[in-house]
Amino acid sequence: MERFPSAAALIAHTKPDRPVLAARPHAAGRAARWFLENFPGEVAYAYKANSSVFLLGALFGAGIRQFDIASLPELEDAATIPGATLHFMHPVKSRTAIRRAYYEFGVRCFALDTEEELAKILEETGHAKDLQLFVRVAVPAKNSRIPLERKFGITGQKAARLLVKTRQVADELGITFHVGSQTTTPDAYVMALEEVRKLIAKAGVVVDAIDIGGGFPSRYSDSEPTPLSAFIEAIRHGFEKLPVGDSCRLICEPGRALVAEAESLIVRVDARKGNDLYINDGAYGALFDSAHLGFVFPVRLVSREPAKDERMVPFSMWGPTCDSIDYMKGPFYLPESIREGDYIEIGNIGAYGRAIASNFNGYGRYEEVILLDEPMYTMYGDARKQVIQNA
Ligand SMILES: Cc1ncc(COP(=O)(O)O)c(C=O)c1O
Repeated sequence: MERFPSAAALIAHTKPDRPVLAARPHAAGRAARWFLENFPGEVAYAYKANSSVFLLGALFGAGIRQFDIASLPELEDAATIPGATLHFMHPVKSRTAIRRAYYEFGVRCFALDTEEELAKILEETGHAKDLQLFVRVAVPAKNSRIPLERKFGITGQKAARLLVKTRQVADELGITFHVGSQTTTPDAYVMALEEVRKLIAKAGVVVDAIDIGGGFPSRYSDSEPTPLSAFIEAIRHGFEKLPVGDSCRLICEPGRALVAEAESLIVRVDARKGNDLYINDGAYGALFDSAHLGFVFPVRLVSREPAKDERMVPFSMWGPTCDSIDYMKGPFYLPESIREGDYIEIGNIGAYGRAIASNFNGYGRYEEVILLDEPMYTMYGDARKQVIQNA
């Protein structure tokens, strides 16, 4: 894989016809080290966010050994990572997936949110005695860009009953939740842990592990989250209040926070109509979250220096397919003179960008490079003073 000091250096060297996925593995390594040093528990990476071998290598190099996987294909891939412990945290799994996970890949950790799923796991593992079973509870989404509570999770009396049933068959009983992706304030975790506290009291069970899921934020042009250190403190306090023993494990599963800033997308402008730019990747590619969820990623012109004192003006972008929903509203602020043939770096697309890209209309093929400079925005820079001295 070719390495360049920056996106500008890449474009000075070659004018790629395809869009470029530009990884910054050092940024993934830095994020992983930050979590491993500051999170008061175990850190698993949510594999679905980005499975580039370069980023996985950086996460592994930083010390990540646990991975949250969501499907059999992810499991088959992640199982090739030496010494990896894999958690199957999707609450709905096929029977084949459960069976193969347990017998072929040695997975012992499964999530569930119904009695039916519990029965399925037991049947497909031959009523194994070494299962780590995590009941997924639904918690309110607060300041989250992608709330998840409507799709998965159980609450109230039903949750208490499921915990009691699961306790009877689990070697290790856990509770897990997800506050929603890109949660920008820590109060979501405070509220979620308070729900968990009430639930444990209601169920009266011994809980061996709490997995607080992912949801930790990254920075985007339209999102300036609370520093991560405040999340860690809120989680530490919430966990301390739980009626669990000293040996209870605390686990988190960040996806976005570990890889968002570790990849950029470099696109070419193929046409300009007023303040609309037609670029060579879009909603069906690595910009799905921009088109469908309104993420405003940071952008910069990398193929030439703009004129001195040139105005920055807001642009929208259209992707390369014929589809009219292939549209990223923005606003993306770029030099007023931007024109056909220019290249733009779109930063912080490392979480779910590459992972979601499809080949609709024959697109979806990328050049790949490694960049050695800093991401456009970071949650981990010295300027943000986030390292907790006494963690
Ligand atoms: C069970 C589970 N854990 C972790 C994650 C990672 O979430 P995030 O990327 O918001 O950190 C997800 C994302 O959907 C998830 O479903």
